[in-house]
Amino acid sequence: MKRVILITGTPCVGKTTTAKALAAKLNAEYINLTDFAKTYNLTLGEDKERDTIIINEEAMQQKLSKVIDASENTNIVVDGHYASAVTPTEHVALDFVLRRNPKELKQLMEKCGYSGTKMWENLQAEIIDVCLGEAVEAHGGKVCELDVTGKSTEAVVEEIMDVLEKRKTCFVGIVDWLGMLEREGLTDEYLKI
Ligand SMILES: Nc1ncnc2c1ncn2[C@@H]1O[C@H](COP(=O)(O)OP(=O)(O)O)[C@@H](O)[C@H]1O
Ligand SMILES: [Mg+2]
Repeated sequence: MKRVILITGTPCVGKTTTAKALAAKLNAEYINLTDFAKTYNLTLGEDKERDTIIINEEAMQQKLSKVIDASENTNIVVDGHYASAVTPTEHVALDFVLRRNPKELKQLMEKCGYSGTKMWENLQAEIIDVCLGEAVEAHGGKVCELDVTGKSTEAVVEEIMDVLEKRKTCFVGIVDWLGMLEREGLTDEYLKI
């Protein structure tokens, strides 16, 4: 029986850093969906305006299923912001959605080289819980939301291990960025697009 662990969330939230550290800890196979799409040519083209590739989700779902089934490793960590949409539910053990305070996320996005419309669109996606919604829609009771704001990678990996080893239960609905921004008078700035 395979244990497939999804690490999803808004771009720049810290998925790849966290997923690689988790995979190392578990001795798991690590699958980065951006690389996976390129390796197996699972793209439909380029979204030039957003400077990003368009994924053929159906083809990716099928290929991912095969790769998971064929893997010799029991533990598989899947990293990608559309991980929820393309990983078949029967394979998924837990779907971790990383969340980060938009004020902190904005700084990481700037560090990643995001700016302008692309940055504000992605921040907006974090604020209105887009990845969480997709995870819940796809994998209901298997979703675990983690607020990683201000936490080290080691601390986040520890939290994930606590959940995997049942020392901790997890929840959805743990953050309210919209309420936070409203209380701080930042709604107009962060939702200006
Ligand atoms: N726990 C963390 N604390 C501080 N910075 C982090 C943390 N995790 C990742 N980062 C930084 O945030 C940026 C985005 O991380 P990355 O793992 O590439 O995100 P993603 O894969 O979600 O796009 C990188 O500059 C990375 O060094
Ligand atoms: Mg990444």
